[in-house]
Amino acid sequence: MTDSPPGPRGFLPGRALLSFPRHPEAFRRLTRRYGDMVSFRVGSQQFFLINHPDQVREAFVTKHDRFVKGWGPVGGKTVLGFGLVTAERPLHQRQRRIVLPAMHRQRLEEYAAAVVREGRAMCRRWEGRREVDVLAEARHTTTRVIGETLFEVDLGDDLPRINHAIAVFFGRFSGRMHAFAGALRRLRFRWAAKGAASARDLRDYADRLIAARRERPGRDLVSMLLEARDEDGQPLSSDQIRDETVTFIVAGHETVTIALAWAWKLLAENQGAQEKLHAELEAVLGGREPAFEDLRRLPYTQGVIAEALRLFPPQWMIGRRAVEDVQIGATAIPRGAIVLLSLFAMQRDARWFDDPEAFRPERWSAGVEKSATPYTYLPFGLALRRCVGEGFAWMESTLLLAQLASTFRVLPSTSGQKSAPRVLLWPKHANLRFEARA
Ligand code: HEM
Repeated sequence: MTDSPPGPRGFLPGRALLSFPRHPEAFRRLTRRYGDMVSFRVGSQQFFLINHPDQVREAFVTKHDRFVKGWGPVGGKTVLGFGLVTAERPLHQRQRRIVLPAMHRQRLEEYAAAVVREGRAMCRRWEGRREVDVLAEARHTTTRVIGETLFEVDLGDDLPRINHAIAVFFGRFSGRMHAFAGALRRLRFRWAAKGAASARDLRDYADRLIAARRERPGRDLVSMLLEARDEDGQPLSSDQIRDETVTFIVAGHETVTIALAWAWKLLAENQGAQEKLHAELEAVLGGREPAFEDLRRLPYTQGVIAEALRLFPPQWMIGRRAVEDVQIGATAIPRGAIVLLSLFAMQRDARWFDDPEAFRPERWSAGVEKSATPYTYLPFGLALRRCVGEGFAWMESTLLLAQLASTFRVLPSTSGQKSAPRVLLWPKHANLRFEARA
């Protein structure tokens, strides 16, 4: 047992924490000022911000069973129910086992065709346009990809409604996280109505998908959920099937959208990197469209995505709530406290990454797994709760970037790297200028 680690003190310590957790930079400043273990309170809630790979290993791997995932953003449960993102053990293990086959390498290979088809459509939409909102374009494409791959549907006219519901969800989600600040707690009600309506829209859509699959089963995720049986041979409840369906609609594309948008923004600011990207694409693809088999032959293209995910991890903060007293390093974490890990701070730490602010896709040339100190590069989380869609995300983002960059050049931009962080780390300015490549 030790004294409480250093950290800002007071009821609501500082403006940055008032708007918790909207400021990745503020959390980074905390680790710089107070060290690798920072403690602070917001209202009556005790937080510990960890920032060293050894602590990460302890909290998320060796002592993971002393924690649950349900920390701040419990507002997510309103929409995601008990789907994989929000479920706790033992439900979590069972659900993960059921959905994993949908993410199998062989399935990803099949999904790649839909990604390339949607990439082609995106290229067509960009023809003749000088300026493109890369966030809106990527969102349109990745939402359609999730529909076609995991659910075997063409979202068609439902797409704007689904995207709107998801945007409200993320807005409300981060609003809910403000609820840590006790004084702001009552404001929740303002968001509640909007959030409930978006949850209803997503559930209605999921219900329609499920009804269709009950009548005509396919090979998609919903059909898999309908066929699944638990240890006692019982089917999943309707609520569980719906929660999982909504979870994958929500979790499956906004993160990839953000990764792609940052990749294009970073390329716009780093024309030298764009030249290298073009050189790789010409050497490997020679003007044809990319395919699944090309992925392992496009290390620089993948490095561009890896760097975007390092500098701007879409889900930039991971947290866990201690369900019993637990020691992390020299610090005694009491039951009920929340342990936070800022991927934004960790992935820009000069102890683990040379020249950490620089965009250098070549730093990943030996392969993403081999190129970083363990437990320092975690855009997909880790251990038992590691992102189940990671393989999907690499496949989709690398193919889409390869396809678009084979066709267009992004022009230099001075819009800067301002972000609009909430629960995810969106770029603030997403309009970029492109020209067709010869
Ligand atoms: C670049 C894209 C993506 C990023 C950066 C990302 C990031 C993450 C992170 C950090 C976690 C762990 C959160 C935690 O431990 O608290 C996670 C979990 C999850 N992700 Fe992703 N994700 C991405 C793409 C996807 C895709 C494409 C899907 C679905 C097709 C997906 C579905 C999920 C699910 C279901 C979980 C919960 C897994 C579990 O708890 O067992 N994600 N993701």
